Amino acid sequence: MWEHISSIDFRDKTVVDIGCGHGDISRRVFDAGVSSLVSIDNVGVILDEAIKNVFGSKRFNIETSRKFKPYHVSFDDFLSFNTDVFDIAICLSVLPYFPAGIPASLQSISSICKTAIFECQYYGDGPGPEELHDYQDFKKMLMNNGFYDVELIGYSTVLSRGLTRDIIYVKSDMGAV
Ligand SMILES: C[S@@+](CC[C@H](N)C(=O)[O-])C[C@H]1O[C@@H](n2cnc3c(N)ncnc32)[C@H](O)[C@@H]1O
Repeated sequence: MWEHISSIDFRDKTVVDIGCGHGDISRRVFDAGVSSLVSIDNVGVILDEAIKNVFGSKRFNIETSRKFKPYHVSFDDFLSFNTDVFDIAICLSVLPYFPAGIPASLQSISSICKTAIFECQYYGDGPGPEELHDYQDFKKMLMNNGFYDVELIGYSTVLSRGLTRDIIYVKSDMGAV
């Protein structure tokens, strides 16, 4: 995954990693020189691993604790207290899990960031929803739910199932402050 998004400039950006999982991407993004990183996941033991992963051998000091804020929280609950608009939201392999459904979740994401990065899962590829079969379907869904200037930045091939998975880079016109 990282190879597809490593070209994105994370330096001095405020970033939220939504459904961060074990934190491999959070760690790389943090190490890329963000101004701040919020990582959220609704499973505590998974978030604990992300915290260990991001901190690694770094010293836990005022600087790192100011820059890295992990939250054990669902995305819906995060929305209820978050007031920030992030430069970049990372949403990799997580959209189908949101109980609000993909369109409503996209609208929420578009309201809290200027740019979002998605890994899209299609029908038949993991928990991808029935209405998404290819990149054009996902692009349409993004543009109907608060995003514009959708840019495809790469593909990953799921070799075990012979399927293609897209990594899509999306810019949002929502909340650009
Ligand atoms: C397939 S994993 C993807 C992890 C990571 N983004 C990656 O690409 O490696 C999905 C993650 O989303 C988390 N998740 C699922 N539903 C969530 C929700 N409603 N709010 C926050 N996190 C959620 C899960 O606990 C899991 O860690």
